[in-house]
Amino acid sequence: MCLVLAPLSHHPFAQLFENLSSQLRKMAKNTSFLGFLVFGFLCFICLPAEAAIKKYQFDVQVSNVSRLCHAKQMVTVNGRFPGPTIYAREGDRVQINVTNYAHYNMSIHWHGLKQYRNGWADGPAYITQCPIQTGKSYVYDFNVTGQRGTLWWHAHIFWLRATVYGAIVIMPQQGTPFPFPQPDKEEVVVLGEWWNADVEVVEKQGNALGIPPNMSDAHTINGKPGPLFPCSEKHTFAMEVEKGKTYLLRIINAALNDELFFALANHTFTVVEIDAVYTKPFSTEAILIAPGQTTNVLVRANQVPGRYFMAARPFMDAPISVDNKTATAIFQYKGIPETVLPKLPTLPAQNDTDFALSYNSKLKSLNAPKYPANVPLNVDRHLLFTIGLGINPCPTCLNGTRLTASLNNISFIMPQTALLQSHYFNIKGVYTLDFPDKPPTPFNFTGAPLTANLRTNVGTRISKIAFNSTVEIVIQDTNLLSVESHPFHLHGYNFFVVGTGVGNFDPKKDPAKYNLIDPIERNTVGVPTGGWTAIRFRADNPGVWFFHCHLELHTGWGLKTAFLVEDGPGSDHNILPPPKDLPTC
Ligand code: C2O
Repeated sequence: MCLVLAPLSHHPFAQLFENLSSQLRKMAKNTSFLGFLVFGFLCFICLPAEAAIKKYQFDVQVSNVSRLCHAKQMVTVNGRFPGPTIYAREGDRVQINVTNYAHYNMSIHWHGLKQYRNGWADGPAYITQCPIQTGKSYVYDFNVTGQRGTLWWHAHIFWLRATVYGAIVIMPQQGTPFPFPQPDKEEVVVLGEWWNADVEVVEKQGNALGIPPNMSDAHTINGKPGPLFPCSEKHTFAMEVEKGKTYLLRIINAALNDELFFALANHTFTVVEIDAVYTKPFSTEAILIAPGQTTNVLVRANQVPGRYFMAARPFMDAPISVDNKTATAIFQYKGIPETVLPKLPTLPAQNDTDFALSYNSKLKSLNAPKYPANVPLNVDRHLLFTIGLGINPCPTCLNGTRLTASLNNISFIMPQTALLQSHYFNIKGVYTLDFPDKPPTPFNFTGAPLTANLRTNVGTRISKIAFNSTVEIVIQDTNLLSVESHPFHLHGYNFFVVGTGVGNFDPKKDPAKYNLIDPIERNTVGVPTGGWTAIRFRADNPGVWFFHCHLELHTGWGLKTAFLVEDGPGSDHNILPPPKDLPTC
């Protein structure tokens, strides 16, 4: 057993290293004792058949970045935007030392990593850890177990994730192929949003006024808006492709507030994985991806060699304004001069509800023997959470009121110290365990818009869940102020999306229509506009896990809560002890 110091965040290097290690491993397998000795001798650089340790250094720092003819100072990791990609293999241990040189106390979340018994490495500020203070470091130390595919990381405090984000690529274990045709090459495609102004200033203005902050000025693909925006010729992402080859695109929606369509002119995608879970492959002209979600697609460069735009633009089917600008990048066949004007794809219309519903209904778990869908068939705990927007009094705000958001009419208040520490060290008075299992007063959730009596309760109220119990949450949108589609994300788990529908959830009729065979398994799911979504999971990961809308606007307004999953009976069913360098508040 020996360690590998993975080269810090340089992918080609990492690849080279892995090749070398795999050579060594083959040698070790094919030769006998002598080979074993040689192998042992080389051990200080080798990668054993079991887990490796991948180490990264993340310097959180303020960097100058310019886009759309505007230069600004913004928080980045290692001066890069998007930040570095984390490469790991299933089974690896990953250690990321985050050093905070920025003037904000902050934390980073490894979105979609399950962090079994190890909430200390999950990252949401004030939920699992206190933020890393300026000048301090914290090592996120976790194992990548039972997961492979594309995930991502992002800052998890304020709106810092607008600029502090990057991809996580988890390769299957050595010798385990993808359950789909091996692509010739792969590319990370991270979708984001860009503000010309300082995003933290924008956010604070909105909060002070009690209204939504200014919309973004552009969408971006790998940090670049593309040539449809001013001063953006040089800020255009392009990938060179060869006719006849197949490419795996690892698409991530890192936008703060916008659900996006994404397509490539003249080419068809085959969806093969989402949120690091293999799907039954299906082909589509465009994908729909909500903030927090990831989608892997295969695409064959099988068209007349040329230049083709990839494009991303929002989906919004509620009467709510949105930054509707189109980001583009170029799928560039080898040898085609850059003077050729690329073709734009036809994206679904901004309010194409039918596309959204039908696209999401096509997502199914692969559910192969090697990748079974272990859907909980019986439910120990039934939860019904309503999503509400509201208006609370705010004497200093623009209209004397502030917009809020709530689950079961409770707008979540961030605590001053982290919930996980409070739970682990038994610190009283930080949260209460009385989050209701049902909305306090049932009403016609999705009837005519409700604009009166919108006052919500506030509190740091969470739900206690018994270890290993099976939980179903029906997340129900409402017409309080307005219906809207909301991507809900659960930390510490994947869940199965067993059902969804438009209108009010009917506890008598709807469960009969659930898919309990091959529902999609994921970590972030869209609740349709004016509809509901039912998810199930087995609470086998003890800890305190955040559950929130992944639209940053709504998270900030209080559309969040947490689950306290109790320890189990066995000594390996409890929360691991916290690391020594865990930040303090
Ligand atoms: Cu990607 Cu709590 O978030």
